[in-house]
Amino acid sequence: VTVKKHPQGLEYVEVDTDLCQARIFMQGAQIDRFQPKGQAPLLWVSSADDYQPGSGIRGGIPICWPWFGMHENPQWPQHGFARTRLWNLDAVQMRDQVVELKFSLTISDDDKQYWAHPSRVELIFTLSDSLSVSLVNTNLGDTPINLTQALHTYFPIEDIHKLKASGFNGARYIEFGEGPYPQAGDEVLFDRETDRVYTQLGDCQLLHTPQGIIEVRRDNSHSAVLWNPWIEKSKRLSRFNPQDYLTMVCLEAANVLEDRVELAPGESHTLSTHIRWLPKAES
Ligand code: BG6
Repeated sequence: VTVKKHPQGLEYVEVDTDLCQARIFMQGAQIDRFQPKGQAPLLWVSSADDYQPGSGIRGGIPICWPWFGMHENPQWPQHGFARTRLWNLDAVQMRDQVVELKFSLTISDDDKQYWAHPSRVELIFTLSDSLSVSLVNTNLGDTPINLTQALHTYFPIEDIHKLKASGFNGARYIEFGEGPYPQAGDEVLFDRETDRVYTQLGDCQLLHTPQGIIEVRRDNSHSAVLWNPWIEKSKRLSRFNPQDYLTMVCLEAANVLEDRVELAPGESHTLSTHIRWLPKAES
């Protein structure tokens, strides 16, 4: 585990073990590379991103906190402020080639305009031949808190036209502010812009790509976001090539609807996602 500096100035932690390679930036505690040894990368990042300090990285896992999407105050940043702030690396542990990294976010005086509640915000990565990420919120104040959040994961899928996402049976979704519509069947195919917040969703989805199947599990999350910008929106996105929509999809572990996080004084909540290539024998 070594700390390095990107040519543009951002600091990151590089992890290289017998089981995986990974890179996590202090800005946003944002992981942009994770590759189990002998397997393909599990995270997508745009080649258009130039890693400028102050703007989030277009790929990996940006942290949306303490709100997801647009705030009701339209002047406030989309997806909260945590993804562009410097986090602290508090602890690194390695046991049997499994590395655990613990980050925390100190809310600056400037950011108290967005979030004034005394709280502890931590992000824990567990890196082995799979990737686990946990976002832990603790209410340290004496009044309740209420927030929405997401682990906004970008996956490499090779060809959006060949992608099949499964595990959606029984869920409902909201698309472009409409709905919730019932999910028709277990599978989702992609032939247009897709920007859905799912609710009542089971805790495991699969992304069937030409290269293999990515398994995505969630804990303490009954909502998830499924996003591909398609052709027109791709042209308007920052740090994104017009063709990028062909090779990525976001499936985000979230608490954004009826599962928004409400914490009484002293209470904690942990949102987690677990990602791996499914071994061929299990698929
Ligand atoms: C998704 C939203 O989660 O994030 C989309 O559902 C949004 O509507 C996308 O466009 C990317 O947001 P941003 O702020 O990173 O460009």
